[in-house]
Amino acid sequence: MNIPMVDLKGQYETLKTEIDSAILQALGETRFILGPNVQAFDQEAAVYLGANHAISCASGTDALHLALLAAGVQCGDEVITSAFTFIATAEAIRYIGATPVFIDIQPGSFNIDPDKIRAAITAKTRAILPVHLFGQPADMDEIQALADEFGLIVVEDCAQSFGSRYRGKTTGTIGAVGAFSFFPSKNLGCYGDGGMVTAADEDTAKQIIMLRNHGSSQQYHHDVIGFNSRLDELQAVILRIKLRHIDDYNRKRLAVAQRYNRLLAGSRFQTPAIPDDRDHVFHQYTVLCDERDAVREAITAKGIACAVYYPIPLHRQKAFGHTEQPELPVTELTSSRCLSLPIFPEMTEQQIETVCEAVLGA
Ligand SMILES: Cc1ncc(COP(=O)(O)O)c(C=O)c1O
Repeated sequence: MNIPMVDLKGQYETLKTEIDSAILQALGETRFILGPNVQAFDQEAAVYLGANHAISCASGTDALHLALLAAGVQCGDEVITSAFTFIATAEAIRYIGATPVFIDIQPGSFNIDPDKIRAAITAKTRAILPVHLFGQPADMDEIQALADEFGLIVVEDCAQSFGSRYRGKTTGTIGAVGAFSFFPSKNLGCYGDGGMVTAADEDTAKQIIMLRNHGSSQQYHHDVIGFNSRLDELQAVILRIKLRHIDDYNRKRLAVAQRYNRLLAGSRFQTPAIPDDRDHVFHQYTVLCDERDAVREAITAKGIACAVYYPIPLHRQKAFGHTEQPELPVTELTSSRCLSLPIFPEMTEQQIETVCEAVLGA
């Protein structure tokens, strides 16, 4: 049995009637830029998340860039973040001329280690950028407490954590700003690129609304140099429909992860912990093991997809001057041992068991 990492086709089939008719309606209306579906999605996403403001944009990478700019990060500033993430997290910091300062992650959670933040703070530090990796919220109380102590801004990378909650609050509503990605394979994904920024205060939200649309809040009046970074109307149509199902999708992802944990318990694979003070949405299900590459090859040969997120941490990437960077032992060890297994809401019991048989037999 071939098992993919995600089954976008299967999910589309279940939503086809609704999506096709809503797309046809939007095509008929021809309001393609900042049209009614974009406006409605921004409102509906804000209500769902409990965010004061939600402003959609063209991608998760743009969302991070706009969030950092609107939050006041400037050229020459330092931003403390994780090296165990997708490159966009730190690329966005560099777009502004600021410097990503990479610190280590916690063993097991894949998230930034708050105990390592204090030592990395300098006179130039302006922000802390935690990533809620794989759908698990980072230790936001500890991070926010440090930010308050040193007058820093917290920018949340929620690209993988739509709908996850930390002590009752959704990720993206805890720091000053949050950045989301709607890349197709994300737990809330559209059918192309898409992103969104959440903001706690109105002035920041107004900045983001201007920045995503050429620095303009009134047509042909440009207050600042902005960008062309609007969510596409057709993507907004899809996201509005999928948003109605996100709780169900996230619940099903958690159920798959719990089943995996039971089937892999006691094996040589270290399974992800499911903490009780936060809701993990399992955008990815990632285990740790020795001889990871051999396991990967063995299960791939049986038709089971798997992926290594992330084989080279950012502080070892050429783009970030890999030779001058500090050692981050937990990050480096995790990069050599991590393996992500298929996870999607429509996954069947049979598929989960087939994956586990292949993994345990590898
Ligand atoms: C942690 C993280 N940050 C940022 C991004 C960037 O999002 P996008 O691909 O929508 O630009 C991604 C997407 O892969 C991501 O996983």
